[in-house]
Amino acid sequence: MSTSQPFGFLHLTDPHLVPPGQRLYGLDPAARLRAAVADIVRRHAPDGPAPAAFALVTGDLAHDGWEESYPLLREILAPLPMPVHLLLGNHDHRALFRAAFPEAPADAHGFVQSAFATPAGRFLLLDTHEPGTAAGVLCARRLDWLAERLAEEPQAPVFLALHHPPARSGIAGMDRIRLRDPEALWAVLAPHRARIRHILHGHLHRPFAGSWRGIPFSSLRGTSHQVALDLGARTTVPGSHEPPAYALVRVSGEEVVVHTHDFLDTTARFDL
Ligand SMILES: [Fe+2]
Repeated sequence: MSTSQPFGFLHLTDPHLVPPGQRLYGLDPAARLRAAVADIVRRHAPDGPAPAAFALVTGDLAHDGWEESYPLLREILAPLPMPVHLLLGNHDHRALFRAAFPEAPADAHGFVQSAFATPAGRFLLLDTHEPGTAAGVLCARRLDWLAERLAEEPQAPVFLALHHPPARSGIAGMDRIRLRDPEALWAVLAPHRARIRHILHGHLHRPFAGSWRGIPFSSLRGTSHQVALDLGARTTVPGSHEPPAYALVRVSGEEVVVHTHDFLDTTARFDL
């Protein structure tokens, strides 16, 4: 691909919608997601100055009340002028999500996993939701699907997206519920390591980037509530009201860059 025309897409995560009129941790997740959508419409239309070809939402689409929350999600996302790819997180409900979004692609076993091609490479979206646990699971069937997709186009650059991080954060309450058995994921990815350009994930509700076994990854704050930076011994999850964000990811032949944007920020803008 050209190095002069970066390919842009959006990363949003963890909207945690609750039924209309309800609040979560003192916040209104629907209002915040609407604000993110309005900001994206202003800034990242496909024919605008910072175009985004699609948006990824990496899970925890709804916090609970799924029968009402998923239709609300559809309504809030409707103004987006680009395709939206929805992933499941631990808070989601697979059957109710599929009932509310019957057009959402799924694999032969019903997992919400899909692959699509872009000028930047192939995107592989994984489903780590597992009923009964907040941790992430990639069972043999889901990993087989990933191995088959990787084998299909053995030269194509790959971007992976999933809800749960394979890397440890040091936040004990979150590491307890990260992706279970990252070694099994690595066993599938290792032969393809050189062409996996980036992993995008959610779950952590805070800025978090680095590399896992040499593969770059990034995550970001959710569109509603956040997780505080607390590297102490507490095993509960430290919540916070740090500002919400979404990210614009831009890819060229040489670079993958991630710009996080605090879409509710109203501080001054000026020439330096
Ligand atoms: Fe979440």
